[in-house]
Formats: sequence, C-alpha cells, structure tokens
Amino acid sequence: MMTIAAVLQSARQQIPHNEARMLLKAVLQTTDVWLLTHDDAVLNYEQHQAFLTNVERRNAGEPIAYLLGHREFYGREFSVSPAVLIPRPETEMLVDIAKASVGAGRTPSSCVLDLGTGSGCIAISVALECESARVTAVDASVDALKIAINNAAQLNADVEFIHSDWFSALENRRFHIIVSNPPYIANGDSHLAQGDLRFEPPQALSCGDDGLAALRKIVGTAPNYLHSNGVLAVEHGYDQADAVRKLFVDAGFHRIMQQRDLAGIVRLTCGHCPAVITTAPNATVK
Ligand SMILES: C[S@@+](CC[C@H](N)C(=O)[O-])C[C@H]1O[C@@H](n2cnc3c(N)ncnc32)[C@H](O)[C@@H]1O
Repeated sequence: MMTIAAVLQSARQQIPHNEARMLLKAVLQTTDVWLLTHDDAVLNYEQHQAFLTNVERRNAGEPIAYLLGHREFYGREFSVSPAVLIPRPETEMLVDIAKASVGAGRTPSSCVLDLGTGSGCIAISVALECESARVTAVDASVDALKIAINNAAQLNADVEFIHSDWFSALENRRFHIIVSNPPYIANGDSHLAQGDLRFEPPQALSCGDDGLAALRKIVGTAPNYLHSNGVLAVEHGYDQADAVRKLFVDAGFHRIMQQRDLAGIVRLTCGHCPAVITTAPNATVK
C-alpha cells in the first residue's frame, strides 16, 4: 500500500508532476486541495492500479484529455473520447465570431450552423452564449454525434444535431451564420504521426492530398445555405490562409477578414455571402 505522496513521487519518473496530479485527482474523484492536504493518505489496491495504468498510457503518449475524459472549452467542461477531436483553444475564435455576428444581426433570432461538430464544443458554446441563436450542428460520425448530444444535455444547451455529410441532409434550409473547424491536414502529413494527433480520429484531422478538400466543399457550397449577407467563418491550417482566402473570393464572398491565433498564425477566415438571387417560379432566366 502506498501513500499519495509516494505514488506521485514515483510517477514523476515517467510523466510531469502536474499531469500525475490530474490523473490521481480523477482516479480518487477528489480536488486539488484534498490532494495537497492528504499526502499521507493510503491508496487502496484498485485506486493504485487504475492510477498506474493511466500513468503508463500517458507515458506512451495518449492525450491527457482522453485519459481524464474531458477538456475545457470557452469556460465549460466538455466530455471527450477518442471518437472526437480534443477541442483546441484557437477554435474559441469561431465562437467569438458567431457571437459578434449574432449580436450584429438585424433578425430577432439568428440561425447558426456548425459543420463537423465533433464534441459539440462550438455549437454548444454558441447556443449558451447567444440566447437568441437557434443552433444546428452536423457531423458525419455517429459516434461523435453521441458525444455531442451528451455534452448538450450535460450543459443544458438547446442544439439540433443532424447526421450529415456536410450540407447533404440540410435540404433547402438557409442560415445567418455558418461556422466550421473542418479536417484540414493533408493525407500523409508527417504531423499525423506525432503527439496527440496519433490518437485522434483520422476523419477529424485529414482531408485530401492538400488538406483543402473539406474547405473547398464547405466554402464553395455555403452560399447555397446562407441568407443574403450571411457569414461564413472557418478555421484552417497554419499555411492555408492564402489558399482559403482565394476559395472565399472565388465563391463570391465579400468583406473577407482573416484572424491570427495567440501564436500569431492566421487561423481563421470569414466573409459575407453574396446576395441570394431568388427567381420567380415562371420567370425565364436568360
Ligand atoms: C477538426 S474536427 C472539429 C470538431 C469540433 N468542431 C472542434 O472544433 O473541436 C472535424 C469534424 O468534422 C467531421 N467531419 C469530417 N468529415 C465530415 C463530413 N463529410 N461531413 C460532416 N462532418 C464531417 C469529423 O467527424 C469531425 O468531428
């Protein structure tokens, strides 16, 4: 039988101290303060084995968020599993853009669409931050949608979830704001074999030979699903800013704006949709 102090000391040989504390806190279902004030408490056999297993898995590279089962995003805890991408801090910029666009809108309730929702972190944050927004979220992965639906229930967020290959199940609906953090790493990119990415779902990470296949589809198709002057905002890779700006220009978007993340990398592109041209049923188009 070992004390808290002894197991933490021993784990330090394999993983950083702060991570060992997080893993032990999760196994004991306790708080930082309790751990600090009870370092002579003794772990039972099951607790010790569960902790050792997680230390081994962390030492082998498994992301701490998957071992803990949650990750913080926009001030809230989201459950995560290997079925979903671990929410990243830079993605919070998409929530900021959606909030600003909902606030700027002239309609009483803005319809917001999140494409490729994963854990639901963007859609749920927008729904909770913007009371007047009506939020829809789609994903092609049923397993991801189960996590997102559970997160929405836990956080008491009203989001409509739809199983869809991008826009395909949305029929003729239109939205005021579309946000997306799609897969944008090129197939075979060496980063996929490094760090947390080794454990995250491939369909959440990579897309096409240049990583732009999903972005091409989303930017090119979004005008058919946006109201006039609606906003599209997408996250993209560190080296894709120019290519994505061109996709926006080619699709007719105007007032295109790009934003840097905290590391100074241009990570986000957004723009306003061209006017929607509606044709009267009997009109002839020349
Ligand atoms: C980079 S992850 C983003 C997850 C979440 N929005 C976030 O920011 O943490 C991309 C998501 O797109 C989904 N996805 C990939 N291909 C898709 C498709 N054809 N249609 C809909 N969703 C798709 C993946 O399942 C994944 O959940």
